[in-house]
Amino acid sequence: MNHDKLITNIGQLILPTRSSQALKGEAMKNLTVKEDAAIAIFDGKVSWIGTSQEAQQIQAEDTIDARGRLVSPGLVDPHTHLVHGGSREKEMALKQQGVPYLDILKQGGGILSTVEATRQASEDELYQKASFHVERMISHGTTTIEAKSGYGLDTDTELKQLRVTQLLKETYPINLVSTFLGPHAVPQSFKGNEDAFLDSMTLLLDTIKEQELAEYTDIFCETGVFTIEQSRRFMEASLEKGFGVKIHADEIDSLGGTELAAELEAASADHLVAASDDGIKQLSESNTVAVLLPGTTFYLGKETYARARELIDSGSSVALATDFNPGSCVTENLQLIMSFAALKLKMTPEEIWNAVTVNAAHSIGKGDIAGSLEIGDQADIVVWEAPNYHYIPYHYGVNHTRIVMKSGQIL
Ligand code: NIG
Ligand code: FE
Repeated sequence: MNHDKLITNIGQLILPTRSSQALKGEAMKNLTVKEDAAIAIFDGKVSWIGTSQEAQQIQAEDTIDARGRLVSPGLVDPHTHLVHGGSREKEMALKQQGVPYLDILKQGGGILSTVEATRQASEDELYQKASFHVERMISHGTTTIEAKSGYGLDTDTELKQLRVTQLLKETYPINLVSTFLGPHAVPQSFKGNEDAFLDSMTLLLDTIKEQELAEYTDIFCETGVFTIEQSRRFMEASLEKGFGVKIHADEIDSLGGTELAAELEAASADHLVAASDDGIKQLSESNTVAVLLPGTTFYLGKETYARARELIDSGSSVALATDFNPGSCVTENLQLIMSFAALKLKMTPEEIWNAVTVNAAHSIGKGDIAGSLEIGDQADIVVWEAPNYHYIPYHYGVNHTRIVMKSGQIL
């Protein structure tokens, strides 16, 4: 057989274990790493895996000599607020003065200032801006991305954001998963009338389903935003309409969003910085993936990080994401998050790689097609300017990619 491409002389080839669900607890410690390896691609898919020695018998149109470098599956970023207007660099000064994130929001800033900018932006402007961020994510090795709406908070703008996500899906050679985050904040016009706002977002679910604009829904369950009761109502309505559900849970205050996610078997519970002991226990007994966002904790200037060790040690599935957004984590670089996971969450390199590949993929329903490299899988492959897999979390803040491939095509 003549393959399209062959990558040979790979120092370490990371082969996360594909399974029917995310890796839990102890299983996150297992990472298959094949030394002195080679991988071939045919028709956009992985067609052969072997040693560099065996690769001498393999015929391919193109051969890439990895010269001892690290090769992994394309990274999966399962929590981003990709499509939005404007930026919020002026909030830096407020943050420096110690004004809390939720106070900035209460004063009409924060998420609500991005809502203004997103409402004013045309669909094309939003597309152009999001394209720039997608390209930056790809250049940092991410080939599967989840993107949330939530900066419209009205019917027209939420649908506009979701349409832009669909257009990105059609135009970029990446896996893109869309999430409707209508209940991301309460708009000024609904202050004191939160239930009415939530009802208006719930009413949108039918249209979103009909137009196939999102696979998941999400809600910001937090003090001064949405309560546990409101979150439950929205999540139950979403499940009834056939969406998968996610929740921004216990990010700042411990409201019990983690417990709610476990009870409803949400696809993921995200943030979890303030998750209670009980929440952690319940999560470990569920199939809900804990999506941790240490870049946000860092960017908000907090000292206390999510209890990743307890989550993993008690048997939960953990994934990592950037939370890329214009306010609480302004980076497209998932490699940086891998460093924070090592330094602040005390995760091991093996756990970190599983958390940005197979587990991240499972948290957005792509566990069957992303995050792994088995024969027949999409050839989403990164060649890293690094000698081994410990190196990426270790050398932080810069981009280590050398080649990024999606379905066998070099991007
Ligand atoms: O995940 N916490 C709520 N939503 C985002 C922040 C969005 C923003 O500040 O614009 C988050 O951190
Ligand atoms: Fe978020």
